[in-house]
Order: sequence, then structure tokens, then C-alpha cells
Amino acid sequence: MDISTIMFYVKMWAIGILFYLNAVLCNTVNNFVYDSNPSVALLQKYIQINTTTYNNLDKAVTFWTNLAAAQGVEIKKYVYKPNMPVLVLKWPGTNQSLPGIMLNSHMDVVPASEQDGWLYPPFAGHITQEQDRKIYGRGTQDMKSVSIQYYEALKRLKEKKISLLRTVYMTLMPDEEVGAEAGMLSFLPSQEFKAMNVGFELDEGGALNVPMIPVFVQDKVVWQIQVDCHGVAGHGSSFQPTNATATGKCHNVVTNMFAFRDEQYPLFASAPSNDSSGYTSVNLNRVSGGTANNVVPNVVSLTFDIRPSTKLNEDKLQQMLEEMVYSAGDNITITYISKNPQSPATMANSTNPFWNAIQSAATDLNITLVTAVPPGSTDARHVRLAGVPAFGMAPQRNTPTLLHAVNEYLGVNTFLSGIDFYEKVIKNMASVPANLARNPSSYLYNTTIG
Ligand SMILES: *[C@@H]1O[C@H](CO)[C@@H](O)[C@H](O)[C@H]1NC(C)=O
Ligand SMILES: *[C@@H]1O[C@H](CO)[C@@H](O)[C@H](O)[C@H]1NC(C)=O
Ligand SMILES: *[C@@H]1O[C@H](CO)[C@@H](O)[C@H](O)[C@H]1NC(C)=O
Ligand SMILES: *[C@@H]1O[C@H](CO)[C@@H](O)[C@H](O)[C@H]1NC(C)=O
Ligand SMILES: *[C@@H]1O[C@H](CO)[C@@H](O)[C@H](O)[C@H]1NC(C)=O
Ligand SMILES: *[C@@H]1O[C@H](CO)[C@@H](O)[C@H](O)[C@H]1NC(C)=O
Ligand SMILES: *[C@@H]1O[C@H](CO)[C@@H](O)[C@H](O)[C@H]1NC(C)=O
Ligand SMILES: [Zn+2]
Repeated sequence: MDISTIMFYVKMWAIGILFYLNAVLCNTVNNFVYDSNPSVALLQKYIQINTTTYNNLDKAVTFWTNLAAAQGVEIKKYVYKPNMPVLVLKWPGTNQSLPGIMLNSHMDVVPASEQDGWLYPPFAGHITQEQDRKIYGRGTQDMKSVSIQYYEALKRLKEKKISLLRTVYMTLMPDEEVGAEAGMLSFLPSQEFKAMNVGFELDEGGALNVPMIPVFVQDKVVWQIQVDCHGVAGHGSSFQPTNATATGKCHNVVTNMFAFRDEQYPLFASAPSNDSSGYTSVNLNRVSGGTANNVVPNVVSLTFDIRPSTKLNEDKLQQMLEEMVYSAGDNITITYISKNPQSPATMANSTNPFWNAIQSAATDLNITLVTAVPPGSTDARHVRLAGVPAFGMAPQRNTPTLLHAVNEYLGVNTFLSGIDFYEKVIKNMASVPANLARNPSSYLYNTTIG
């Protein structure tokens, strides 16, 4: 090897080192912007706690206990069902006898596995390096980002020494994704909740790929029914009248239910995208029965998931369903797996000072709000039913809806601007004077007809 060859290798090596250093330094510099942003780092840390529903939540409890301690605010842990803690952080208002503001979110997330095709591990909180940075991970939209935004907003208000007239609570639920049995549904009837004297609640919303924040003013409720059709059983070669068999009876049930479905579908198809209140969705989600290929079964079961129009009177709906089922033949039974009472709507106009508080925050920030009744439901339906007005929001404008999806992500700037949004929203809501909101439950109204 001659000297010029050695010099060539030395040069290439030096260039390599330079490239390497450049890459490392640039990365460090790029990462520095956000890794050093404590709000983003906190979200990342929270995403990294795997809070898939039914996982042990001790780490999440420690996480929030430390955050409460860092702000010198009280945290309470209530456990209504084993391993399902409900957390309440309290930022006291200057007049604690006024109804307070409850900022709700849930700790649990739906399952996510790297094998499903995630670009980055779902519990890593990976931040992409392109110009328009995104944080990937389960819970970035639904709804760990919102929990951190509430916290960071309250922290800023405290640092700025802005006193709140009304007490603000942050509540964190363990099981929203599986029906809230141990969380919101156990919490609402409790003495602890009653003692909080909540006047208004904020709950979850949804990302939307438009330059607006949807505000959920009402949720549809959930009805699930199991229909069991009993009929004549026999050998696979026997031949009974159709209407005597379990399958024949269930066939009639399906015909009736699908006729109703086909009446409702055009109402859905013509509804504005922000308004699912006017139609009842019906889906046949499970069909089960039978013991062997050559045996006529004595029972067949159907499970329907029904989301009633918020205009439907529930007694009338029940009557209608039972008519559709019982007219299909005798010896057919209905079991209600779920039958939520209709939940009222929250006024989103100038009559409601809490709406004005949110609208004025949005106006200050040049954010357009659009009210909506979503097709699904959140914990807020239980809260409204308990007499506390509530709105559902997620400050995730221009963001594809990826809750529960593979590659759930949130733009880092979207996340950060959401803190600015909540800072103003919380300040305004906690400042609604006593004389403007004497009876917060009067901002609820029923939408059922008849
Ligand atoms: C997260 O928790 C779920 C449920 O326990 C588990 O199946 C999954 O493997 C966990 N994921 C990681 C990355 O630990
Ligand atoms: C707090 O609010 C209550 C209810 O409106 C009012 O009666 C009371 O005077 C207020 N207390 C203070 C210290 O302003
Ligand atoms: C079977 O029952 C359905 C529903 O009651 C009825 O409409 C239909 O006419 C019956 N069919 C026969 C052949 O009896
Ligand atoms: C209804 O179904 C049950 C269970 O299969 C059966 O014992 C009963 O005889 C049936 N009654 C009628 C009226 O078909
Ligand atoms: C606000 O909405 C409620 C419910 O629809 C209505 O009763 C009330 O009159 C409205 N107020 C104003 C000022 O429009
Ligand atoms: C306000 O937002 C709209 C779009 O949402 C934008 O077109 C407009 O330029 C913004 N105005 C200001 C003053 O930022
Ligand atoms: C849907 O949005 C329009 C404005 O774009 C609004 O007038 C209407 O009230 C909204 N519908 C619901 C159910 O909030
Ligand atoms: Zn959620």
C-alpha cells in the first residue's frame, strides 16, 4: 500500500467521520428542539406506559402522582373495581363553593401490536424527523395527548399566577374503552363525585382532517340486544315448516330488522357529516347456533348493535323493536345486553356561559369550532345523564382520524397548539362568574320527541 493509497483511506475515513458526526449532531440538534420541549417529552413518556385496558395501571398512577406533586396539587385515587383506579387532581378555585370544572380523560388505550404494521413501535412515542414532525403511538390521539394538554395548560396558568375562580379537576379513568363500568359509571354515583360539585365537564372528541375543532354536544347511546329463536330440532334429514324452525324464525327477525335498517340508511346518507342525531344505526354483529352439520338446531342467537337517533323516545323504540322481533314467530326472546337511557344535549349557544368561554378562547386563537353529534359515544353521555353539561373536544385540526387505528399519530405542532387552546379554554371556563351560571344543569336539554 503506497502512501497515496493510505492518504486516500485516511481522507475517506475523515470524510466518513464528518458525515457521521454531521448526522449525529444534526439529529441531536433536530431532536433537541422537541426532546427538550418538556410538554412533548412528557407526552412521549406517557405514551411509553403501556396502558392497554386491563393492564396494571400502577405506572400510570405513579406518573400522575409525580405530576401532581410537581405542581403541589392534591391527587386522590379511588378504586371501585379491583385494579381499576380513578384519579382526581384538584386545582382549587378562589371560591370553592362554586360548581367546578371537570376535565376528563381516560388512561386506558386500545390494544396495539407492532405486527399489525406500525411504522414505529406503538408504545415508543417515536417522533419523526421531517419538517412537519409527528409523534407516533397508541394514545397520541385517543387520548393521552389531551390529558397532557390539560395538565400543561394548568401548569402554565399556575406559573403565570393566574388564579381560577372555580375549582378545576382533572379526572383520569381506567376503562373507557370497554364501557366505563369500573370508571365513569362507578364514579358518577359516588359520594366523591358528588362532593366535587361539578358544574361542567370536558371530555374526549375526535381528530378531523379539516381546519376546525368539532365540539360534541351530545352522544348517541348504546343498545345491544340478543335475540334467541327457539324452534323444532331434529335430524338433518327432517323437514319442518320454516316457521317452526329456529333458523326460520331468526330469518323473519332479520327480515324485519333489515327492513328497518333500510329505512334508516337514507337518513344517514343524507345527514350532514357533523350530525348523526337523526338516524338509528342497526348492525347484526353476531350470529350463533347449531351443534353439528346434520342436526337441525333448537336455538339460534342473533346480536344486534343499535345506536338510536337522539330524537327517539326510548319507550317507543323498545316497543318497535319488540314488535319486529315478536311478530317473527312464537318462542323468540329478547335479552338487553346494553340499554342506555337517552342522554340529553348541551346547549352550544350564547345562553350557555361555558360555551361562550370556549368560543371566545377559540376566537382569540383564530380557531373555528363546529358543533357535532358523533355516530358513536363517549363517557360524556353518562355525565350528561347525571345532570352535568359536557362538551367533547380534541384540539386536533387538519389531522386524519386515527383513533384505534394502526399508525395512530399526532402532529407535534398540533399537540403544542392544543396546550395554548386549553390554557385559554380553562382560564375562561374557570372564570365564569357565579351570577352567570347559577344552575349549570339548565344548559342541558332533551332532544327526544314524543
Ligand atoms: C402492552 O400490553 C398488552 C396487554 O397486556 C400486551 O399484549 C402487549 O404485548 C404490550 N406491549 C408491549 C410493547 O409491551
Ligand atoms: C362564593 O360563591 C358563593 C356562591 O355564589 C357566594 O355566595 C359567596 O359569596 C362567594 N364567596 C366569595 C368569597 O366570593
Ligand atoms: C312465517 O311467519 C312470518 C312472520 O310471522 C309470516 O309473515 C309468514 O307468512 C309465515 N309463513 C308461512 C308460510 O306461514
Ligand atoms: C319454546 O322453546 C322451548 C325451548 O326450546 C321449548 O321447551 C318449548 O316447548 C317451546 N314452546 C313453544 C310454544 O314452541
Ligand atoms: C340555545 O339553545 C337552546 C336549546 O336548543 C334553546 O332553547 C335556546 O333558546 C337557545 N338560546 C339562544 C340564545 O339561541
Ligand atoms: C385564521 O385561520 C384561517 C384558516 O383557518 C386562515 O385562512 C386565516 O389566515 C387566519 N387568520 C389569521 C389572522 O391568522
Ligand atoms: C353542523 O354544523 C352546522 C354548521 O356548519 C351547524 O349549523 C349545525 O348546528 C351542526 N350540527 C350539529 C348537530 O351540531
Ligand atoms: Zn377515547
